[in-house]
Amino acid sequence: MSNNHALEQHNITQRFTVSCEYPVLFTRDTFNTNNTQLINTINNKNESPKVLVVIDEGVHLSTPELCDKISQYFAHFDIALLPKIVVPAGEASKNDVNVIENIYQAVETHAIDRHSYILVIGGGAVVDAIGYAAATAHRGIRLIRMPSTVLGQNDAGVGVKNAINYHKRKNYIGTFATPHAVINDLDLLDTLSDRDKRSGISEAIKVALIKDEAFFNELYQQRHTLSMFENKPMENMIVKGAKWHLHHISTSGDPFELGSARPLDFGHWSAHKLEELSNNELRHGEAVAIGIAMDSIYSHLTGFLDKESTNKILSLLVDIGFNLNHPVLTKLNVSNALDEFKEHLGGNLCITLLSKIGTGFEVNEINEHLMVEAIEQLKSM
Ligand SMILES: NC(=O)c1ccc[n+]([C@@H]2O[C@H](COP(=O)([O-])OP(=O)(O)OC[C@H]3O[C@@H](n4cnc5c(N)ncnc54)[C@H](O)[C@@H]3O)[C@@H](O)[C@H]2O)c1
Ligand SMILES: [Zn+2]
Repeated sequence: MSNNHALEQHNITQRFTVSCEYPVLFTRDTFNTNNTQLINTINNKNESPKVLVVIDEGVHLSTPELCDKISQYFAHFDIALLPKIVVPAGEASKNDVNVIENIYQAVETHAIDRHSYILVIGGGAVVDAIGYAAATAHRGIRLIRMPSTVLGQNDAGVGVKNAINYHKRKNYIGTFATPHAVINDLDLLDTLSDRDKRSGISEAIKVALIKDEAFFNELYQQRHTLSMFENKPMENMIVKGAKWHLHHISTSGDPFELGSARPLDFGHWSAHKLEELSNNELRHGEAVAIGIAMDSIYSHLTGFLDKESTNKILSLLVDIGFNLNHPVLTKLNVSNALDEFKEHLGGNLCITLLSKIGTGFEVNEINEHLMVEAIEQLKSM
């Protein structure tokens, strides 16, 4: 015992600060050789670094000429590309550990080192999965993300998280890792299905609801043109959505989510569960739209949010085209979903509600009876 005490005098508090910085660039036609945004992010190009391009199958099939264009672009700048890898579309890449294994294999085969690059082009799911592989191979290979969905560009692709699923549980395995760069090429969105164009709008609505009333009002005013995916309102929604997500990460004081508060997860406790219960038939953004509606109604039922604001939120979601009454709602067990969300957060249950449009706040308890009532209201919509 006395020896232990004697040793305590040697205890050390290790402390250092790491400053993180990466560019998030907005552009069109990235692989036109006159467009130098991408090549300028490769800061050691004189050494001809290795670049491994990984493409979402959905992007590859809808733009078959893209692969050649990418090769020509890098050849123009004297950078030799490794053989490209096409990975399964969407959530399938997060569900299949072989996708990660194939990236590790490519890293080993081509001796890709920490000064090389992985360039991933795909939706939020593929960017998450390849981001995880890039962050863990060699403890981190430089990752350039080119998100190719609305949700990828305004949320999933711009932040500091990656993940894969485990035993069907969403985002169970993952790391916090800053990307080397993010290129949001709005032209990539042209080939997206209407369903995927719509899906990502919910993340912009989410961030407007918790942070920025004026942004919400813009989305509300532009809801009919947004529902037709017109260029200008879509561009405004993506740029502002991305900026708010980035702003939160850099100013919240908790970029790597060490605490339990998770305001950007407004509407997400149920969304994650609904995605799972639907066997991923529901897109993440579609589930988030339902989750936003549910927690807005609950905010009203608990006396925090007025009726008019609640109705305005619901009509925005409906006018944009979201189906808020999905059959999977009947399978949602509130208590289980809240327990799993609490485990996902670590520590206390922390759910974001709305006190008004543009202002979120945290609660640590949910009245399950009222939440079930909120779900019943959704089912009658
Ligand atoms: N890391 C984070 O911070 C974060 C944040 C939010 C969401 N996410 C994750 O993002 C995922 C959802 O992402 P998503 O909404 O982009 O869906 P998704 O990645 O599942 O893509 C949807 C579909 O669109 C296809 N696709 C992608 N780009 C295309 C294009 N340009 N043209 C034609 N088809 C294209 C894909 O192949 C897929 O079939 C979820 O797994 C979610 O958990 C992560
Ligand atoms: Zn989300």
